[in-house]
Amino acid sequence: MNLSKRLEIVATLVDVGSRVIDVGCDHAYLDIYLTKNNNNKCIATDINKSALDNAIKNIKKHRLGKKIETKLTIGLSNIDVKSDDNIVICGLGTRTIIEILHSNVLSDTLIISSNNDVEKLRRAVISLGYYIDSEIFLFDKDIPYIIIKFKKGDKKYKSIDYIFGPILKNNIEYRNYINNKYKKIIKSIPMKKINIRLKYRLLLLRLKIHH
Ligand SMILES: C[S@@+](CC[C@H](N)C(=O)[O-])C[C@H]1O[C@@H](n2cnc3c(N)ncnc32)[C@H](O)[C@@H]1O
Repeated sequence: MNLSKRLEIVATLVDVGSRVIDVGCDHAYLDIYLTKNNNNKCIATDINKSALDNAIKNIKKHRLGKKIETKLTIGLSNIDVKSDDNIVICGLGTRTIIEILHSNVLSDTLIISSNNDVEKLRRAVISLGYYIDSEIFLFDKDIPYIIIKFKKGDKKYKSIDYIFGPILKNNIEYRNYINNKYKKIIKSIPMKKINIRLKYRLLLLRLKIHH
């Protein structure tokens, strides 16, 4: 089984031997990889029946039915979450992720990769009593991804930490990516929209000054 680079990096953040709850498992490739390579047991869940049927087919093919339980459910509903579980939510949007986190009992370790609005995600998860333990930025097939491991606990953050990430704000590859992205955005904004141009210029400046 060929795991994508993105999911391979997600797997590096999962605690060896832990029980994993993979919300929105789709094909269950991550769960299959983790049970084979990281000594995990998994609960693979999805809201979509055809996605879960696909997961069940793949799990059967790899004879991992005893190590990976599957569940058709919304988010973490009907799952008995334990504090030492690793909850993984990858490939969903920030709004859905926040809804899932707000409506359930959570474990002490969350590994999350959102499709959008990472600042909002950081703010929401930290406000639930977590801190950022690791953050990884990567390109997979030219698409940028951020994967964050949150752990239960308290840390103080500045606004720049929410915007760019307390770890990623010091990461050269991420800084270069933001620099190029924001410069392109500024170029594309008409001169008369001075406030929006200024907003991006100030963000770039803050990232630079912070360094
Ligand atoms: C883009 S796929 C991501 C699959 C996998 N996690 C990954 O990162 O490759 C998103 C999956 O999340 C499922 N999903 C969306 N909203 C969900 C929810 N509220 N609860 C559970 N699964 C959900 C979709 O059905 C889909 O299979």
